[in-house]
Amino acid sequence: MKPNDLSEIVSSDKSHVWHHLSQHKPLQTSDPLVIVEGKGLRVTDINGREYLDAVSGGVWTVNVGYGRESIADAVRDQLVKMCYFANSAGNIPGAQFAEKLIDKMPGLSRVYYSNSGSEANEKGFKLVRQLAAMKNDGKKHKVLYRDRDYHGTTITALSATGQDQRKDQYGPFTPGFVEVPHCLAYRAPNGDDPDYGVQAAKEIEKVILREGPDTVGSLCLEPITAGGGVILPPEGYFETVQEICQKYGVLLHIDEVVCGMGRTGKWFGYQHYGVKPDIVTMAKGVASGYAAISVTVTTEDLFNEFLADPSDKMSYFRDISTFGGVAGGPAAALANMKIIEEENLLDNVNNMGEYLMDSLNELMGKHEIIGQVRGKGLFVGAELVKDRNTREPVDESVAAAVAADCLKQGVMIGRTNRSLAEYNNTLCLSPALICTKDDIDEIVNSIDVALGNVTQ
Ligand SMILES: Cc1ncc(COP(=O)(O)O)c(C=O)c1O
Repeated sequence: MKPNDLSEIVSSDKSHVWHHLSQHKPLQTSDPLVIVEGKGLRVTDINGREYLDAVSGGVWTVNVGYGRESIADAVRDQLVKMCYFANSAGNIPGAQFAEKLIDKMPGLSRVYYSNSGSEANEKGFKLVRQLAAMKNDGKKHKVLYRDRDYHGTTITALSATGQDQRKDQYGPFTPGFVEVPHCLAYRAPNGDDPDYGVQAAKEIEKVILREGPDTVGSLCLEPITAGGGVILPPEGYFETVQEICQKYGVLLHIDEVVCGMGRTGKWFGYQHYGVKPDIVTMAKGVASGYAAISVTVTTEDLFNEFLADPSDKMSYFRDISTFGGVAGGPAAALANMKIIEEENLLDNVNNMGEYLMDSLNELMGKHEIIGQVRGKGLFVGAELVKDRNTREPVDESVAAAVAADCLKQGVMIGRTNRSLAEYNNTLCLSPALICTKDDIDEIVNSIDVALGNVTQ
C-alpha cells in the first residue's frame, strides 16, 4: 500500500470505526493501532512495526497462529462450493466437524452451531429454561454463575457474569441468574487450608439450598477463569462440584470459550479435572479466528429431552442462529483441528507451558511485585501486588503501565481490564500453541524489563 492509502485508512478508522472496549477520547490526538498482517506469532501494524503477539489476537483466539493457508484454503473452497444454508439443514463440514469434535469429548454427543461465545452460552441457558418449562412449569429455571467468571457480552450472558465492572451501567439484568463464590485460593481467607477446594465447592451447595434445589437448573463455570484473573480450580473442587450437581439435579455447563481447543494442554480445560459436563460451550480457538464459529455441545440425554411427538408443536428446541449456518465456520474448524493434531500442538502446549511458568516463577525472585503466577498450558497469569505479605493488589494503572511498556518493546501482553474494580491487576499471557522457547524468552524478557521500568 502507498503511504497515502495508509493514511486514508487510519483516517477512515478514526472517523468511523467504534472500537471495542475503547475510550475514544485519546484517539482524537493519536492514531489507533491498525493490524495489517500476521504470520506465526507475529503481527505487523500499518506503520510496518512488528510485534510478538503473546495473547493470540488480544483475546485468546488465534490458537494455531497467523497466516495458515490450509485454513484459508478450506474456507475458500467451502464458500465457493456452498457458502451458507440455515442450519435447519445440514452441511458437509458441519457434519464432519461434529463427528471429529465428539470423538474428543467422551460422554457428549450433540453439536449446536452459532457464532460467538456469548451466543453459545445463551443456547445453554435457553436449553435450561425450556427444559424447566417442559418438565415442571418453569420452576427449575435458575442458572448459577460464579463471582469473577465471564460468560459474554449480551445482556443475558452478562447476567451470568461475575465481574462488577463489565456489568456496571448495563442493567437491569435477566432474572433468574444467581451468583456463587469464586475459588481463588490466593484471595480466600481459608485459601491455605488443604481442603479449600472442597470448601469452595460447598459454598455453591449453600446457594443451591438457599435458592431451593427445585429452582436451580444449571451451574455455569469456566474450567479456568480467564478474564477474571486466571483462576485455577483448587484440588478437589471439581469433584465436589460434580457431586453437588448430581445430588440436586443441576446441569453442569462448562464454558470452554477460552480454554477449549488445546489452550491448556488438553483438548478441553474440564478434561484436566475428570468432570462430566452436561453442556460445553466453545468459540475462540475453535477456528482460531479464521471464521466466526461457536458451538454448544450437549449429552445425548439432554438432547433426548427435546424429542417428542411432532404433534406437540412446542417441545423441540425452537432456536436459530442465522450465522450458525455459515459453512465456512466448520470448514475452518476442521482445518484448525487438523493442524493441532498433525503438529502435536497439545504436546507443545504442555512443554512450552511448563517453560513459561518456570520462567515467570524465576522472575518472582527478582520482582517483589509479582504476588503469584498461575496457569495451565499456554494460559498463564501473573498477579501483581503492592506487598507480598498483605497481598494488596496494585492499582490497575500499574498493570496497564507494564503492558504498555511491553508494547513499546514490541511484545503484546494482556491484563485483566475493567473487569473487577479491585482486581484489574493480573498480567495475562496466552501465546499461540505453536510458540517456541525463543518466543517465551522474548515475552518474559520484555515483562522483566517492563517491571523494572514501572517499579523503579
Ligand atoms: C469465558 C468466556 N466466555 C464467553 C465469552 C464471550 O465470547 P464472545 O466474545 O465470542 O461472545 C468470552 C469472551 O471473552 C469468554 O472469555
